[in-house]
Amino acid sequence: MNSDEIITWLREDNPQKLAEFYARADLVRRENIGDAVHLRGLVEFSNYCQRHCTYCGIRRDNHALPRYRLTRAEVLECAQLATQLNYGTIVLQSGEDFSVSAEWWAETIKAIKDATPLAITLSLGERDENEFALWKKSGAHRYLLRFETSNKTLYQKIHPPRGGKISDRLLSLKILRDLGYEIGSGVMVGVPEQTYADAVNDLTLMREMDFDMIGIGPYLSHPQTPLTQQPPKLSPEQILPTGENTCKMLALARILCPRSNIPSTTALATLLPNGRERGLQCGANILMPNLTPAHYRKLYEIYPEKEALDAHKTATTINDWLKNISRFVGVGAGNSPRFDNNNK
Ligand code: 5AD
Repeated sequence: MNSDEIITWLREDNPQKLAEFYARADLVRRENIGDAVHLRGLVEFSNYCQRHCTYCGIRRDNHALPRYRLTRAEVLECAQLATQLNYGTIVLQSGEDFSVSAEWWAETIKAIKDATPLAITLSLGERDENEFALWKKSGAHRYLLRFETSNKTLYQKIHPPRGGKISDRLLSLKILRDLGYEIGSGVMVGVPEQTYADAVNDLTLMREMDFDMIGIGPYLSHPQTPLTQQPPKLSPEQILPTGENTCKMLALARILCPRSNIPSTTALATLLPNGRERGLQCGANILMPNLTPAHYRKLYEIYPEKEALDAHKTATTINDWLKNISRFVGVGAGNSPRFDNNNK
């Protein structure tokens, strides 16, 4: 599929044609991945963050937000819960909280490895190569780091540098892949000043980088952020943060990257009442139920009204629900076929 075809689909608004397009993406998913939906237990470890991303509710200068950080014992409890629920993977996600040392994480990763059979995915932001290497050696398998937008000018605007160091997430992702991680990345759809042409480039970049995992969700405005408080003027080429545009991006990502693991994201479920099913039916094959202790969950407020899929629902409940859309819960670690094939 070339850039012209991609942009034509992004601009398509005929419901019948779109339904056929989603069915096509669903078939690509089925042929390349199958009907299993793997569950990743998400632990939102800390909402302390030293960064100033202009879209994100846990940015450092949001002083209205109470901050929390889990203890190692709490993380291990989440890991035990994931194991009891038969999940194959735990995802440790956090704001860029530099008061937690790389060594602390290394010990925590080892403790999870010792106590459970879980695959470990990290989503801890931009860190140094030696830290990524230490965590890999300690037993981490995967790393998630979205590039957010392929438009470099826009990226720098919405994602200011930390300590004068220009952020280069694509370089980090290459380093992570060389270290042997399965790598995941992706974008928000409809960030102010993101154009249709940017969205095409986002997708082309996903194909070029051949990510093992691809996360795509709508941009959701958070009241305590500069993007909401001082909104930029939008061009007619702006791509809007709608559920439909997110589904189009998901379907295109699936067609361009047939063997990648693609979650139906919490952001899509937050925006659309049936968003979780919609995502699974236009290319996605992963769900990320939330294991974070309930009293902290509301505080991990990257955007408001987060519609978390409660992990305390048993795997059976999720399985029953998946049956309605002819899918079932996958067993085992659920690596991406792309990764397993390239690492035979
Ligand atoms: N709306 C939607 N997604 C957001 N993220 C952060 N803030 C928002 C927001 N306001 C996404 C980013 C980040 C991921 C963890 O959450 O893409 O990489």
